[in-house]
Amino acid sequence: MTVGAAPHPARTSASGPPGGTARNLIGIASEPIERMRGIVREARRIEPSQVLQGRLVASVFFEDSTRTKTSFVLAARNLSATTIDLSTGSSSVNKGETVIDTAGTLSAMGVDAVIVRAKQSGVPGLIARHLPGMSVINAGDGRHEHPTQALGDALTIAEAFDRQDLDFSGLRVAIVGDINASRVARSNMALLRGLGASVVCAGPPTLVSGSLRSLGVDVVWSMDQAMDGANVVMMLRIQFERYAAGRGAISSPREYRQMFGLTDERSRRLGSDVVVMHPGPTNRGLEIDPAAADGLVPGGARSLIRTQVANGVRTRMAVLRDCLTPG
Ligand code: CP
Repeated sequence: MTVGAAPHPARTSASGPPGGTARNLIGIASEPIERMRGIVREARRIEPSQVLQGRLVASVFFEDSTRTKTSFVLAARNLSATTIDLSTGSSSVNKGETVIDTAGTLSAMGVDAVIVRAKQSGVPGLIARHLPGMSVINAGDGRHEHPTQALGDALTIAEAFDRQDLDFSGLRVAIVGDINASRVARSNMALLRGLGASVVCAGPPTLVSGSLRSLGVDVVWSMDQAMDGANVVMMLRIQFERYAAGRGAISSPREYRQMFGLTDERSRRLGSDVVVMHPGPTNRGLEIDPAAADGLVPGGARSLIRTQVANGVRTRMAVLRDCLTPG
C-alpha cells in the first residue's frame, strides 16, 4: 500500500460542512477526556434511530477484521446511514493509488464519514489532515491506537462495576501480553488512566518495555504480580504478523502460556470478583485457556469477552453520532 502522497487539494464535495472541518476520532490520547466520557455515556443509552438517514458511511479496511468492521456496519445501519464497503482486495490501492487518493475519491462522491483500518500507524490521521471536510474514524492503525475498542471496553467496565458516573478510581486494570505492539493497549492506557483507574502492564521484556511507565502505568514482568489486586485482567494476543520472524516474538508458546497465559488455574486464583477481558481475536491455549476465555472455570474469573463484542455496536453508534451530528 502506498501511503505517502503529494499534497491533495482540499475536499470540495457537498457532503461535509461547507468549507468547514469535520469531526474525527483518530485517538484517545489526543482528545479531551470529557469528549470520551460523553461518547461512553451516549453509548449506554443509544437506541436505533433514523438520525443518520441520508448520510454516507464508508469502511475502508486495509487489514483484516471481524469485530470492528462488522460492528461499524451494524452501527451505521442502526442509525439509518447508507453504508459502503471498500475491502482491501477490491480497492485501486492495489494498482498503486495512494490511500489519500482513495479517500479523496470517496470524499468527492459525497461520503460523510470514512472508517479506516490500516497496517501502518498514522494513516487515519494523514487522511484527516488531507481531507478536512470528511469525518475520519480510526478503526485501528498499526501500533498507534484503536479508540473505539477502548471506548467499548470502558463501557463494559462501567457496567460490570456499576460505575455509571465513569469514575474508575479505585479500579486496577492489568493489561497482559504484547503491549509494545498493541494499539488496543495504547488506547486503553490513555482512556482508563483518564477515567481514574490504575493500570499495570505485564508480559515478557521483549514485548513490554519499561519505557511505558512514562504513560503513567506500572510495568511488571510477571503475570502473578500483575494479577495481584487487579479487578480487571485484560489479555492481549501476540501480534505475530507484526514481527519479521513470525513466531520469533516469543521463544516457546508453551513457556509463554506458563509464564503469562490466563490458565484455568490462574482464573480460579483470581476468583469471581475479577473480570476477564480480551479484545479478540483470541489465540486459545496460548494467552488464554478456553474455559478461562468462556468464563467456565468453576469459581473462576468472569469473562466479559462476548459483552465487549456486543458493546462494540452501541459504542460505534455513539461514535458515528458524535462525529456526524456534533452538538
Ligand atoms: N478487536 C478487534 O479489533 O478485532 P478485529 O480485528 O476482529 O476487528
